[in-house]
Amino acid sequence: MTFFVCEECGFGSASWYGKCPDCGKWNTLTERSDFSKTSTSKKEALKKISITPLKKIKTQTKSRIKTGIFEFDRVLGGGFIPGEVILLTGEPGIGKSTLILQALKNIRCLYISGEESAEQVKNRADRLKINLDKFLFSNDLQVEGIIESSLEMKDNIDVIVIDSIQTVYSKDIEGAASGINQLKGVTKLLVNFAKKNNLAIILIGHITKEGEVAGPKTLEHFVDCVLNFEGEKVSNYRLIRTSKNRFGGTDEIGIFEMTQQGLKEITNPLIFIEEAKSSDPGKATVGIAEGKRPLFFEIQTLVVPTVLPVPRRVVKGLDYNKVLLLLAVVRKNLNLPLDSYDIYVNVIGGVSIKGTGADLGLIASLLSSVKNKPLSAGSLFIGEVGLLGEIRKTFFEEKVVLEGKRLGFKKIFSSNNIKNVKELRSII
Ligand code: TYD
Ligand code: MG
Repeated sequence: MTFFVCEECGFGSASWYGKCPDCGKWNTLTERSDFSKTSTSKKEALKKISITPLKKIKTQTKSRIKTGIFEFDRVLGGGFIPGEVILLTGEPGIGKSTLILQALKNIRCLYISGEESAEQVKNRADRLKINLDKFLFSNDLQVEGIIESSLEMKDNIDVIVIDSIQTVYSKDIEGAASGINQLKGVTKLLVNFAKKNNLAIILIGHITKEGEVAGPKTLEHFVDCVLNFEGEKVSNYRLIRTSKNRFGGTDEIGIFEMTQQGLKEITNPLIFIEEAKSSDPGKATVGIAEGKRPLFFEIQTLVVPTVLPVPRRVVKGLDYNKVLLLLAVVRKNLNLPLDSYDIYVNVIGGVSIKGTGADLGLIASLLSSVKNKPLSAGSLFIGEVGLLGEIRKTFFEEKVVLEGKRLGFKKIFSSNNIKNVKELRSII
């Protein structure tokens, strides 16, 4: 009897489908004569578990390896640790390879690239004036080979970079390279290797806005740390965020600017604020704690009469559903129906704001646009807004307020001096 097995996800079926019913990919089912070959139905004998009293385990604090970039080390929790596996994700072209090259410039590194040739990497390093004396390079992508060769030279390297994990394959795993089976299998092999040999591995993974699910997302369980490198390609700002970190916090962000000379670290908290040449309606400045660091962003909202039966809501840089929720709060608490208006919301600089601290500022910018009246110069908004219109304290609010004062904001609105969104009426 013949079976059909999906090359992507391993789904098996007695009949053929053009589209895999499990993972939804097209033309991935191939015919097999013996389905049992692909399943792991081997019976295992009963095996008692081995037990270790934890108090007998001796722990040692592993020393961290610092990279050449302070912002990068900070998101990692102070550098990376031998044996740590880091997944660095981001859209193609955002600057992942550049970041790695700059960060590892003083570290003994084996760089496996399925994306670029040795000449291309060397060229970029020359242009960035990075001395790659400690870099070893390979274009060979079989994971068993990578592991075997790394084992032979493990005393001479501190970190292995795989650029990108989608291009590496295992000779023993069925399915196309970059398919889910391969991705998971290859990653597991590399993670085991890293742990056994105390070598750090950085896996670079491409994600696309649409296709996030099928790619590196599925690898997040296997690794110790997940870094997301984000930003709009049209803007020069880039952020690193951590969504998982077994050896540090997940709330720090690193900020960079992409320049002709590569990525530059940004420490100025006002980097995303345009110098006020005029005070326009619909513009509000918000203060947010990103990690422990106060940062300031500018939200612009445009409210215009709609010509459509269902009004448009376009949101960039904030969570779309959160904006809809706040529109409902405005409708109820400020008695302001906006059904006959299109609403456009944007965060300046092509960056995204995470967290809740921008709620109050978004509503202020919305009211300012509706009333066509600018907010007074030097205003700063800090605060989360609840469903009942109440203003809530956000993380590290005091710190953000203090930093706001230090930077010269004249009117700071936060849960200290405003309790409900209704009070915004008196200031706009
Ligand atoms: P790259 O690191 O190759 O991106 P990724 O590895 O995420 O695909 O960076 C690609 C972009 O960065 C490329 O479009 C050009 C730009 N760039 C600069 O603007 N300045 C530079 O110094 C470098 C090296 C790249
Ligand atoms: Mg690259």
